[in-house]
Amino acid sequence: MTSEHEIEPHIFVIHGGSGDLARRKLFPVLYQLLTEEGAKGSCHILGVGRQDLGDDGFREIVKESFIEAGLPVDDDDSWSDSWCRDCIHYQQMADIDREGPALALRIREIEETYSLPGNRIFYLALPPRAFPGTIRSIGREGLNNSPGWVRLVVEKPFGTDLDSARELNHLVHEYFDESQVYRIDHYLGKETVQNLSVLRFANTVFESIWKRDRIRSVHLTVSESLGIGQRAGYYESSGAIRDMIQNHLTQLVTLLAMEPPARFDADSIRNEKVKVVRSITAIKPDEVVLGQYTAGDMDDEQVQGYLSENGVAADSTTPTFVNLKLAIDNWRWKGVPFFLRTGKRMPRRMTRIVIEFHRPPIAMFGSRNPVETNPNRLVITLQPDEGFHLLFEVKEPGDEMRLRTEELHFHYRDSFEALPDAYKTLIADVIQGDQTLFVRADEVEASWALYDPILEMDLPIHPYPAGSWGPPESDELLARDGTAWMNDYDPE
Ligand code: BG6
Repeated sequence: MTSEHEIEPHIFVIHGGSGDLARRKLFPVLYQLLTEEGAKGSCHILGVGRQDLGDDGFREIVKESFIEAGLPVDDDDSWSDSWCRDCIHYQQMADIDREGPALALRIREIEETYSLPGNRIFYLALPPRAFPGTIRSIGREGLNNSPGWVRLVVEKPFGTDLDSARELNHLVHEYFDESQVYRIDHYLGKETVQNLSVLRFANTVFESIWKRDRIRSVHLTVSESLGIGQRAGYYESSGAIRDMIQNHLTQLVTLLAMEPPARFDADSIRNEKVKVVRSITAIKPDEVVLGQYTAGDMDDEQVQGYLSENGVAADSTTPTFVNLKLAIDNWRWKGVPFFLRTGKRMPRRMTRIVIEFHRPPIAMFGSRNPVETNPNRLVITLQPDEGFHLLFEVKEPGDEMRLRTEELHFHYRDSFEALPDAYKTLIADVIQGDQTLFVRADEVEASWALYDPILEMDLPIHPYPAGSWGPPESDELLARDGTAWMNDYDPE
């Protein structure tokens, strides 16, 4: 958000107001945004939750969250300023079906007291099972109709398969037009992810070679060193395909592979993204590798395997690792494999895209002993140490013809201050009504349609020790296409 855009007065209703997401992300980010824009009084936050907190109890939670986020609110003066006193409210709602009218009354009361024009944001920071009841309750009370604008923000996961996603879309559309709906995929809020479009479309040097006759393969890795922590309840029924591939990694593929949009607006961009997903051919069972971590060594510390994690069934077959190959059947990408890989308990946290270019058509150097050339590669690191490296070949000085791979690089940290939190970007866009970084209904359904079949396949789950790059079958999958992961490439 830039200060050219004025923040219109609104009420920001957070369903799940005392929950983890609200505390960790939403409150601090709202505070930062409103403070930076000098617009604190324009936003009234209404937390909605099951706990009996009262306004004061809720304000304490909000205050703690600011302090935890390192925001300057710990002196009583700033905390007791009028914004914090007047603009943070709480409504207890233990039974969504019975207490909808009380919430509606409260929203209208706040709007009247503070002369708000009826602009409303409903943010569902809730477990997915609570989405339908909450959406119905908003609709039943007519809160979706207002003299101002009304926006609905839905956290992930949006459905657990194609049917459930369709059903949820159907329910959402009973009360909201698609232009009012903001489905979150926090990867889209990351600066480096947004930069993928700039890298491609603001740099003719890249866009002109962004196609099958120049690119040999594309590798995407989102590796995490953490295990599932205390999230077994969710993760056991989710697994890595639902948790990461269907949403985050597929979004990255669409941004990498889409055609230039006619305009740089939400619908033009999302039209191109959805075309990519629809062009991906059915995934073949022998091009999917699933894995589950076993006990292993991580940074000299022995960690337990998935089956020993709290809350995990002893015979669980939930994959914590996936590697699969996608084929995009269109003019630009025909024949270029896209390899997607994600897993828990891998050696390090890293989100990286490798664009591997074709080797030169003939081995020209070293006529008696042809010199092997490495392919050029563009390595885009989305996190941590955001930036990119372009790998190319140079001649080592000396009589003999020897080649060496060198690189050009760019690091965000060298040129910019700390990157903003993805949630800050996304919330700013919700407040401004910009849907570009949110997933449209047809996108989410197309993505489930792609992965549903493999969720139903009975595929083997290969063990991999914690601290490794996944099962060896994953390396074999790439080797079949004559390529390999760049696991050891760890530039400074
Ligand atoms: C979430 C997944 O959507 O993304 C988590 O549910 C995962 O399992 C997280 O850890 C990764 O996000 P980030 O921003 O840390 O890469």
